[in-house]
Amino acid sequence: MMLLPIYSLLLLLALPVKAITDEINSDNFIPLTREFIDLLRNESAYNRYATPTQYLGHATNVSMSMYIEGISSFSAQTMDYHLDMYFQQEWADPRLRHNGTGPVLVRDKKVFEMMWHPDVYFANARHASFQDITDDNFLVWVYPDGKIWYDCRISLIVICMMDLWKYPLDSQVCEMRILSYAYPESQLHLRWSERIQPPIDRNMDIRMPDMRLIDIRTGTCNGTYSTGIWSCMTAVFLVEREMMHHVMQTYFPTALIVVISWFNFWLDIDSAPARVSLSITTLLTISTQANAVKMALPEVSYMKAIDVWMGMCMAFVFGVMIEFTFCHFAKNQEMHRNDAAPNLIVDTTLTTLFGGEANMEELSRDIERQRLPIHHSNSIESKLRIPPELNDDVPSYFIGADRLNQRRTKKQSVSKLRDQLLQVTRRAMSWRRFLRNLRGRAVANKIDEKSRIVFPATFILFNCAYWSFYLAFS
Ligand SMILES: *[C@@H]1O[C@H](CO)[C@@H](O)[C@H](O)[C@H]1NC(C)=O
Ligand SMILES: *[C@@H]1O[C@H](CO)[C@@H](O)[C@H](O)[C@H]1NC(C)=O
Ligand SMILES: *[C@@H]1O[C@H](CO)[C@@H](O)[C@H](O)[C@H]1NC(C)=O
Ligand SMILES: *[C@@H]1O[C@H](CO)[C@@H](O)[C@H](O)[C@H]1NC(C)=O
Repeated sequence: MMLLPIYSLLLLLALPVKAITDEINSDNFIPLTREFIDLLRNESAYNRYATPTQYLGHATNVSMSMYIEGISSFSAQTMDYHLDMYFQQEWADPRLRHNGTGPVLVRDKKVFEMMWHPDVYFANARHASFQDITDDNFLVWVYPDGKIWYDCRISLIVICMMDLWKYPLDSQVCEMRILSYAYPESQLHLRWSERIQPPIDRNMDIRMPDMRLIDIRTGTCNGTYSTGIWSCMTAVFLVEREMMHHVMQTYFPTALIVVISWFNFWLDIDSAPARVSLSITTLLTISTQANAVKMALPEVSYMKAIDVWMGMCMAFVFGVMIEFTFCHFAKNQEMHRNDAAPNLIVDTTLTTLFGGEANMEELSRDIERQRLPIHHSNSIESKLRIPPELNDDVPSYFIGADRLNQRRTKKQSVSKLRDQLLQVTRRAMSWRRFLRNLRGRAVANKIDEKSRIVFPATFILFNCAYWSFYLAFS
């Protein structure tokens, strides 16, 4: 008898600190007595397989409450979350009325097994377990009037079908359904506690790295199955994704890359390698970023907010590449139209000089026919007027030694002439290219100048539309 207060004190210390109202909290509980166990064992007085109201013709009311100790790991990939909670049930069993001075504490699983208790389960839990370190985490109080308070600690992995169309600017509503397994609504009536307010309380220190717990609500669900109507209650968790991480890790870097791609418009129109490599690099970087984002997400068939963003950023960088292509095309457009003539001249000249098949005069006639409109053309033609004896077709065995020498010097002069001709033609061609190109170049520059305004303006507009759409519709 002297040990009793010490025993009670120890038990009290072992109990978890919870939000229990004064009415429930009783520090004068008494330990399990032999009389109580005898009562449970007395089959004529107590049938543990019958509900407390089995023979009274009405349902047993079971009221529930919860204290959320921890909630974490909202995973979009597996569509579930972890929950650690104290789950409390309360019901009245008049058969267990006793004469004690306070509630009888039951913390022995075997004794609890001998009592009738509701067979509540979590319908959408992937995995659930009782905690049993260091001892089974549960307690039962049996009040003298037969009211029973059952409290246990449960760890759950609960399925939450998330709608990710607003990811990562989304908030999720995750329901946990609670039903009785064996007793339909006519036998067992589940409901949220009216005495304990709020029925679902939570640890205020709950912090999740990627989510914020906004609210916890209670609700009911439709427990109509083919086997009957079951009493169905829901605990609803409203969580919002922490957006800042994604803004810093995804949105900001990709926006920067898009901005960098605009530097193209300030680069020289002729530095094609620089412009192409800048656009390609930015395009590749964005697609790498998009892939990294995709890795963390399930393969849903609809478009997520992040997909829209990534797609648009990619489209913007792609637009820069298209713009460059247009510029380059515009720049080269004028040149190509008139470029055939000089090319032909060089070709003809080269075959003439190296192949020696055509007459030099033919060449000059060629040039005249194509009307080379250059200032140098006169000098070219004067140089091209080569004496006809240069181009004799006499076989070499008819030619004497001094004739051969003469031919050699002639050949030397021809090669000198060829070099000069080539040089002049080249210079003329580059001049022509430059002059004829001026108009195309102006068009290209105009496209660049317009792009410097159009691209940033469109991007800002897109940003306004994007953020207002996804943030306002929440
Ligand atoms: C069992 O309960 C009945 C009725 O309450 C009582 O008459 C009987 O003596 C009890 N039996 C034992 C073994 O306690
Ligand atoms: C169960 O609760 C309902 C109201 O929810 C009440 O009308 C009914 O009397 C209660 N039954 C018992 C046995 O307490
Ligand atoms: C409680 O005590 C009263 C008398 O004090 C007695 O009549 C009754 O049978 C007792 N009940 C139980 C369950 O022991
Ligand atoms: C519950 O579901 C059943 C079919 O599953 C349906 O007939 C009934 O109307 C639903 N009840 C409510 C309140 O939604």
